Amino acid sequence: MSDYILAIDQGTTSSRAIVFNKDRAIAGVGQKEFTQHFPRDGWVEHDPEEIWKSVVWAVQKALKEAEVEASDIAAIGITNQRETTLIWDRATGKPIHNAIVWQDRRTAAYCAKLKKAGHEAVVTKKTGLLLDPYFSGTKVKWLLDNVKGARKRAEAGELAFGTVDSFLIWRLTGGQSHVTDATNAGRTLLFDIAKNTWDKGLLELFDVPAALLPDVKDCADDFGVTDPALFGAAIPILGVAGDQHAATIGQACFEPGMLKSTYGTGCFALLNTGTDMVRSKNRLLTTIAYRLDGQTSYALEGSIFIAGAAVQWIRDGLKLVKNASETGPLAESADPSQNVYMVPAFVGLGAPWWDAEARGAIYGLTRNSGPAEIAKAALEAVCYQTRDLLEAMRKDWKGGGDTVLRVDGGMVASDWTMQFLADILDAPVDRPVILETTALGAAWLAGSRAGVWPDMKKFAASWALDAEFKPKMDSAERKRKIKGWDVAVRRTLTV
Ligand code: G3P
Repeated sequence: MSDYILAIDQGTTSSRAIVFNKDRAIAGVGQKEFTQHFPRDGWVEHDPEEIWKSVVWAVQKALKEAEVEASDIAAIGITNQRETTLIWDRATGKPIHNAIVWQDRRTAAYCAKLKKAGHEAVVTKKTGLLLDPYFSGTKVKWLLDNVKGARKRAEAGELAFGTVDSFLIWRLTGGQSHVTDATNAGRTLLFDIAKNTWDKGLLELFDVPAALLPDVKDCADDFGVTDPALFGAAIPILGVAGDQHAATIGQACFEPGMLKSTYGTGCFALLNTGTDMVRSKNRLLTTIAYRLDGQTSYALEGSIFIAGAAVQWIRDGLKLVKNASETGPLAESADPSQNVYMVPAFVGLGAPWWDAEARGAIYGLTRNSGPAEIAKAALEAVCYQTRDLLEAMRKDWKGGGDTVLRVDGGMVASDWTMQFLADILDAPVDRPVILETTALGAAWLAGSRAGVWPDMKKFAASWALDAEFKPKMDSAERKRKIKGWDVAVRRTLTV
């Protein structure tokens, strides 16, 4: 009986595929990193063909490791780096340009122009987002305006736009489905998250022809069936959610007031607010947490652009470590008397600052400072930024103060970092047994729809704690450290 579930997690720096068995244990994994292209200052691109190949490779590897055939898979769940923008030719499936990655800042001046012209209030009201180059809308316009002939072809219905989920589904189904889910649509600046529809006024504002757009489905829905030529059998795709939304599901944050934070390339904290669409007064985003059976649950989101990417820079840019996992122990060995702060604004700053032009900085260096102090500053910066987000959430949400933070992602394996996080937040931090929460969330969407995984309630009850980190730092020390961080951020801001 086919009762395995395959999760495809297409992230910013790597593509992963995980085969789960019917008991929700991991049976096989495939993972492939791919190239990051930085054609200019603040620009970030991915080659869509490399993404596609990495996904196919990862799926084949995961199936092999799990010792299963495609016909043993009941359903696929897809989760993905959000906002990253692709346009492809409907006839050939070939992209017209590299994917413009969520971190890319090329439309900063255009966003500033729209803001100056007073458009932000209406954009925020409809989408819950801000006028920042982070989101897809202005990237779509850039592609239509800069790739020769693209606008005309888009208007003629020859081209298709999609975030990475949409592109993968198109390829997986052999061009049969041009679809996305509500969480991914909600990150484009083109989608009204209250009405759950593409918005005509926003399409006009960003100059995007409606003919480009995919159909928007629930997160657990029928997204199409894979072309049997790919993996040897036709597998239904039954779950899709942007990675942060899938992690919210994987962490079983289904009740209003539950909060998770995922430390991947960036760091994204989502606070479930239920059916309540909370409007932030502190520059957080309002986003669709998930949409199931036509019912939308919302979240407040804080988005930090650089988290694991700072560790990657320490490994690949500065070459201070060979493996990312060495960063925690290196940081732990730092001289505690030094006060080195890193503001990792490599691609500007996200919430709550939203400064697209800011760039990274390190403060407080002495002649004694070395690799350990820099590594420590990088890991601490992620924790300080998480605190900035949670402070904003506490102000925006009535119950925000009592919330326990559930964490996941590569960086949370470091006990040292998680203890510092709890210390700086002055709140407990819960790390689950299963750290693959993003893939697990996508798998639950597909598995529950396929009828081989339990419903939401039973799934939530199976969430298990690995370790709880409780704050230990004395309050004077915490205050002093936070003050140092605040000074460092303010010195870095350009707005
Ligand atoms: O919004 C961008 C986000 O979805 C990227 O996630 O896991 O690649 O840091 P990640």
